[in-house]
Amino acid sequence: MTQDELKAMVGRAALAYVQPGALVGVGSGSTVAFFIDALAAVPVAGAVSSSEASSARLRALGIRVLDAGEVERLPVYIDGADEIDAQGCMIKGGGAALTREKIVADLAERFVCIADASKRVAVLGRFPLPVEVIAMAAPQLVRRFAALGGLAALRPGVLTDNGHPILDVRGLEITDPLALETEINQWPGVVTVGIFARRRAQTCLLGTAAGVETLVF
Ligand code: A5P
Repeated sequence: MTQDELKAMVGRAALAYVQPGALVGVGSGSTVAFFIDALAAVPVAGAVSSSEASSARLRALGIRVLDAGEVERLPVYIDGADEIDAQGCMIKGGGAALTREKIVADLAERFVCIADASKRVAVLGRFPLPVEVIAMAAPQLVRRFAALGGLAALRPGVLTDNGHPILDVRGLEITDPLALETEINQWPGVVTVGIFARRRAQTCLLGTAAGVETLVF
């Protein structure tokens, strides 16, 4: 199977976690795009989305999009990941939507990660860690990452939906995701670090050649 076929398979499988008539939290990225297309067949009350791109795709399919501020809780949040480890901790933000992803995920009772098998790792960090930052702090944050052994660089030509740049940090071996997420979030100028450990996935639907593997954390 191609990577896109694996993504489409887990996108469809995620419908099992969506309650007809309820709201659903919707993430961002190419795997989620397959989920949104499948969601068009489910009579949901509406969706809270983590990116302008996902909101546009939802609306184009006739699905009502609500702002995060209009809801207090969501039964489920469905999103992809750039990497996921054996505890359900993730690196996210390859599509630059990490801040809104963290906000919408925080509203949800359950985080269901959908990913093809290439995203499963033993230790997070091979994928460059995305960090949304305030522009004026970027040079000093580059130095802070260097002190940790990471090589940080601004993602060329990219501003997030919130209007901020992204630093991509290479060379980190993230053996304690929760501790590193907590540490980086304290640094002045960091908007959001793309480690999702405090709010990790409870379930991962992993697309493999043998079918959908369900991981429960
Ligand atoms: C978006 O900012 C990301 O967090 C995505 O969830 C992640 O990059 C996975 O994207 P794909 O499904 O396109 O691989």
